[in-house]
Amino acid sequence: MPTYQYDQPFRFVHRADVAFGKGRAAEIPDELADLDVEHPMIVTDPTLPEVGVTDPIVDALEDAGIEYYLYDEVEPNPRVSTVEDGAEIFNDEGCDGAIGVGGGSSMDTAKAISGLAKCGGDYIDYEGQGNFPTDPYPIITVPTTIGTGSEVTPFTVITDPNREEKIGVGDPKLIPNVALLDPTLLQSLPSKVAASTGMDCLTQSVMGYISTNSNPITDALNYRSVEMVSESLPAAVSKKDLDALMNMQIATTIDGMGFMNSGLGLVHSMSHPVSAHYDTPHGVTNGLILPAVLRYNRIAREDKYAELAEAMGVDARSMSTREASKRFVEEVEDLSQAVDLPEGLSELGVEEDFLPDLAEAAATRADTSRNKSTNPRVSTEEDILEIYRDAY
Ligand SMILES: [Fe+2]
Repeated sequence: MPTYQYDQPFRFVHRADVAFGKGRAAEIPDELADLDVEHPMIVTDPTLPEVGVTDPIVDALEDAGIEYYLYDEVEPNPRVSTVEDGAEIFNDEGCDGAIGVGGGSSMDTAKAISGLAKCGGDYIDYEGQGNFPTDPYPIITVPTTIGTGSEVTPFTVITDPNREEKIGVGDPKLIPNVALLDPTLLQSLPSKVAASTGMDCLTQSVMGYISTNSNPITDALNYRSVEMVSESLPAAVSKKDLDALMNMQIATTIDGMGFMNSGLGLVHSMSHPVSAHYDTPHGVTNGLILPAVLRYNRIAREDKYAELAEAMGVDARSMSTREASKRFVEEVEDLSQAVDLPEGLSELGVEEDFLPDLAEAAATRADTSRNKSTNPRVSTEEDILEIYRDAY
């Protein structure tokens, strides 16, 4: 008798080619040629060109005689105006493809610019699922952090400061054509960014694995990602060990392929209002909320928690399912401590008397409802407030 009865219908979507290897970034001219892109826009943040992370890409383009436009205006929690300005420049400069280099912010912005430059209008017009009428310009992603999965997913998260909300756009048309994974680009990744983005990867994989929308394929991907994060994140953060960083880079791409199909659950619903209001790092915010959500969800997914305990290296053979499920939550907390995450939301500057407003946003706003819909427990606003307090 198999452990699972996988009897629910599902569709598994995947499109991006994934090309991995040390030095892969230098092959970008070949990738552009395959996509018939002659004048790309590089979309990144101001820091990466300064510290030389974009050099292998820029050097390869210059050696190949490819003219490019460098748009290095992406900020953390990127704004709608950054996307709209970028799309205008993209068209004014006659660009015909986007290369997103950086973390989730830069890759999301590259995807958004490519779609908006092609289809016109305001970015907010495309809020929701599947609203782009035509394919965007070709998109290549080159991740330089270890945790968003944006390199292979159809999602962009862009902040509207007027609404203090993150605008979620998900469209299979925005799935990048190619994700170029070059671990040598991770060598100067600051430990804090490694910890933050790595905890995003863990959150997405865990929540994808316990999602009501998981399927056999996403389970395979998300389980392996949890295993790899557990093995490699501490060394990636503290020692900047290249093998560990490499494993994390692969884990996050595996995770992207998984969670884009399984959904993300309650943690992202709760972290987006916090980041939108306080401008806190996405991964840290998720990492702080994750243990509290796991405590809340445990009774609904003891079996899968027990499996995840094993993915995190626990020998659970002599434990009951309940014991192993509790041990899994402890393992997640231990990993947070090992990578020096803050103790709680209070340390991020979140005000205690603002928690009810955050709970209301997480319970009701459009940008949070899709994630929440795949959480294993159906949560009320009161439940969410309790979880924020637990994470405080
Ligand atoms: Fe995330």
